[in-house]
Amino acid sequence: VPFGDGASEGIDGKDSAQDAHELDLLARAIPGLLYRASLTGQTKTEFFGGNVLAMTGFATDELLSGGPLPIEHLMTPSDRDRRRAEILEAATCHQPFTIEYAIRHRSGALRRFVEYGILLSRPGAATPRIGGLILDVSDRRTLEHRLRESEDVRRDLSSQLLTSLETERRRVAAELHDGLGQMLTSIKMRVEATLPFIKGGQTTNAEEMLGKIVPMIQGTMDEVRSISMALRPSILDDLGIIATIGWFCRNFASTCPGIRVEQDVRIKERDVPQDLKIVIYRVLQEAMNNVAKHAHAQFVRVRLARLGADIELVVEDNGRGFDATRAAAQDKGEPGVGIANMRQRLDTVRGKLSIRSTARVGTIVRATFPCDSEPLNRW
Ligand SMILES: Nc1ncnc2c1ncn2[C@@H]1O[C@H](COP(=O)(O)OP(=O)(O)OP(=O)(O)O)[C@@H](O)[C@H]1O
Ligand SMILES: [Mg+2]
Repeated sequence: VPFGDGASEGIDGKDSAQDAHELDLLARAIPGLLYRASLTGQTKTEFFGGNVLAMTGFATDELLSGGPLPIEHLMTPSDRDRRRAEILEAATCHQPFTIEYAIRHRSGALRRFVEYGILLSRPGAATPRIGGLILDVSDRRTLEHRLRESEDVRRDLSSQLLTSLETERRRVAAELHDGLGQMLTSIKMRVEATLPFIKGGQTTNAEEMLGKIVPMIQGTMDEVRSISMALRPSILDDLGIIATIGWFCRNFASTCPGIRVEQDVRIKERDVPQDLKIVIYRVLQEAMNNVAKHAHAQFVRVRLARLGADIELVVEDNGRGFDATRAAAQDKGEPGVGIANMRQRLDTVRGKLSIRSTARVGTIVRATFPCDSEPLNRW
């Protein structure tokens, strides 16, 4: 089959059969479909190479019955009309054309093709012919789509991250203002009230009044300590995650005496990657806060264990349960950010969160951390 107009002799003077053979080999090497067709349908479409079946699911003969322009009948009518119009326009203007469209593979799958073509016949020829290369770009389009999606997710995550940082800051600011601020104000007022007694030499009164201030200062110190521990527990850096879980559970038990806390740690400190420790702690903190705030539980079990290549943190309570699929704050009438934050934190280390909750039975919060995960971001 000669390729191109009036090719009767090969490039090095060999016969046209050899020429066609070489072109066929060349076409086979291209991961696409090379064709030549007449715009009027007066001569038969030719496909070169052996990719027709792979790309469309149809044999060459089957495809040829589909109309003047190859593979037309595998397209939607609107794609077909658009393609025809573009080819005609390109042929009239003697311009190469590039068109993208969807075709229905014999298997039923939709594939995306890109076609690069050109008018082959001389201008004004009675039966104008075009030739083209059709490539299957479905995989590339899917990848591009996924890339765009993951870019969107990343953008969402970082904006949520900023929002939750702001929320956290607001919380800390409120705690500093309402807690520490108030305490320091009343200490200042009491000290001021003592001054006249000291000036007037009434030391006994002054001593009594100052004595009452000491526990207030102690309370303020405790408050500073608890705010700073809530922000970043120094014990985590000093003694590690296992000690921190112990400390947290003891603290929890003394703040919520109605809830029995059981700890089940089955992992060695050195088996927990350094970067995971703060994430594990934050998830524990939120899950336990939720137990204290919402669960009405009598019992909570904290479990940290190695599970194959993963580390698993489980916080299980026997409280009233909730609809974990809705996970919006039912008490306040506004959505909470705690669970969403846990998910985000886990995302940063490619971990997973699963929440199983049954009404009146309790809630199981399970966070899985892959040990070999490279952190995307450290919080
Ligand atoms: N252990 C639990 N038992 C019962 N209900 C729970 C439990 N954990 C969460 N919930 C429910 O899920 C809702 C969402 O929790 P989430 O932590 O996202 O928000 P929140 O605790 O209400 O607010 P925030 O965490 O922002 O302070 C809670 O309001 C509560 O109704
Ligand atoms: Mg919460």
